[in-house]
Amino acid sequence: MRTCYTGEVNAQHLGQTVTLFGWVHRRRDHGGVIFIDLRDRAGLAQVVINPEDAEAFAIAERVRNEFCLRITGTVQARPEGTVNPDLASGEVEVVCQEIEILNPSVTPAFQLDDDNLSETTRLTHRVLDLRRPQMQRNLMLRYRVSMAVRKYLDALGFIDIETPMLTKSTPEGARDYLVPSRVNPGEFFALPQSPQLFKQMLMVSGFDRYYQITKCFRDEDLRADRQPEFTQIDCELSFVSEEEIRAIFEEMVREVFREVKGVELPKPFPTMSWAEAMQRFGSDKPDLRVNLEFTDVGDLMREVDFKVFSAPANDPKCRVVALRVPGGGAMPRSEIDAYTKFVGIYGAKGLAYIKVNDASAIPSGLQSPIVKNIDDAVLQQLIERTGAEDGDLIFFGADKKQIVNDAMGALRIKIGHSELGRANGLSEAGWKPLWVVDFPMFEYDEATQRYYAAHHPFTSPKDGHEDLLESAPEKVLAKAYDMVLNGWEMGGGSVRIHRAEVQSKVFAALNIDPQEAQEKFGFLLDALQYGAPPHGGVAFGLDRLVTMMAGADSIRDVIAFPKTQRAQCLLTDAPSAVDEAQLKELHIRLRPVDNKPT
Ligand code: AMO
Ligand code: AMP
Repeated sequence: MRTCYTGEVNAQHLGQTVTLFGWVHRRRDHGGVIFIDLRDRAGLAQVVINPEDAEAFAIAERVRNEFCLRITGTVQARPEGTVNPDLASGEVEVVCQEIEILNPSVTPAFQLDDDNLSETTRLTHRVLDLRRPQMQRNLMLRYRVSMAVRKYLDALGFIDIETPMLTKSTPEGARDYLVPSRVNPGEFFALPQSPQLFKQMLMVSGFDRYYQITKCFRDEDLRADRQPEFTQIDCELSFVSEEEIRAIFEEMVREVFREVKGVELPKPFPTMSWAEAMQRFGSDKPDLRVNLEFTDVGDLMREVDFKVFSAPANDPKCRVVALRVPGGGAMPRSEIDAYTKFVGIYGAKGLAYIKVNDASAIPSGLQSPIVKNIDDAVLQQLIERTGAEDGDLIFFGADKKQIVNDAMGALRIKIGHSELGRANGLSEAGWKPLWVVDFPMFEYDEATQRYYAAHHPFTSPKDGHEDLLESAPEKVLAKAYDMVLNGWEMGGGSVRIHRAEVQSKVFAALNIDPQEAQEKFGFLLDALQYGAPPHGGVAFGLDRLVTMMAGADSIRDVIAFPKTQRAQCLLTDAPSAVDEAQLKELHIRLRPVDNKPT
């Protein structure tokens, strides 16, 4: 029987006999004495095997990395000078009396303490990768976050209700993962993109406060913060306002940080309208650790003799912004060139700049390839409006709104977190949560020339905006909100439409005719007719929250068995081909693959 976890052996056990189970992290042969760093989920302990104990010593000589062992020994203080302050067990060592090899290991595919492993190696050998202390810490942190969430919600009367995995498509906007039905030939289930419609129906059923920590499935392009299957903390509640919902869930996040990390987040979280976030930061999830913001200068550029600026300045679909970088004058040309290349990723055709050597001498104090094309009076106004001072640099973005927002928004973050940015106080460490509110209800898609729901089609318009649904859909704001933390969207939700006539108007604005609405969401619309309560909710990305809290780079580092960027599991080799017999049973015939999807 184990007396305690290996990583928990400490000075309190001095003189005691302990029995430990674990894996060999390292084995060192020190001129006759063998040291084994034994590891389990709690950490490492040093085991000493002396040659006088011939039987144990003979076994220890055969031991290799990752063997699974049982050790019984006496805890003693480490000799002076050999204490390891980095280990919880660093003051003590276990003098081995008995050692048993429970199971040998083949040579591990990689050294567990190698910090430069490729992700392919790690994901292919995930079982070993998960043995690494960092991964053990990440998954334990994830568990503690889930538990803190459950505790908080339980105390407020939320109940956990499961919703189906085999279901009908939900309208979150990504592609569905489909599951063929054997017993209903030619028909398919969709894996849920979220439990959205079910949680709304649970409100109609009177459950009042629901939550679920559940898997969602979206077939979309993957990035560092996206997985095809991910986990939501999904919540819904009745008889509350938008503000009340936000208050409940920001307290949940505060409580999780308090309990799991001992960090006190600001109270209340700042709130910013979507329009302001786009205007100042070009993003609906601004990273507020970065102290840089846009200055709109389109109005100054309408008449200038520089087409790159004047053309977009006169086009209502475009935007011209300046980004003042305090102290940026010190930036070498190579860095500016690198940023020019960087904004190109987002479609920007260039990155004009002005170095402000002497703000009082216009134009001679300004160093830039473009000042010769811009009137002195405009330059003067530029300096005033951006507040630029000697030693600063101003970057410019001029293009379609989305390109400027994406390119300059990404540049803002990149510069803020760069070496120069940190040295000049352009960004700060810490936690910067934010609610972004007042989202537009619809997004217009140029390609298909129609409106799409910015959140989903059941989101309620702001009070008083119902009439705009027909006359000016682009002006309608929604009771929708996102929680943002350090530049990541952690969660999003909305107050829902609970009355049929408003829902019909929204469908009309979305070009969804009543028949289509009935086919797709008839079950929800029917449910809403039975005295549906006013309700709303939110869903958080658990993987993202934990990634942030763990300080990990990718959500793959906090998911035990994640998929790659190509939506594959390297460990099990899924997805993979299946037998013809299985396909036949499902009434499926494969088509030849002409061009592999990207
Ligand atoms: P939404 O689509 O905004 O809202 O999703 C909620 C949160 O889920 C996380 N998330 C993801 N995490 C990892 N990988 C993904 N592919 C992924 N997609 C989303 C994000 C996001 O903020 N039903 C609504 C919620 C509601 O209205 O209550 C919904 O799903 O952190
Ligand atoms: P050009 O006249 O194309 O050589 O560009 C002059 C300067 O403007 C260069 O510094 C370009 O990087 C920059 N530039 C070009 N297009 C844009 C744009 N759309 N937005 C911002 N700067 C641009």
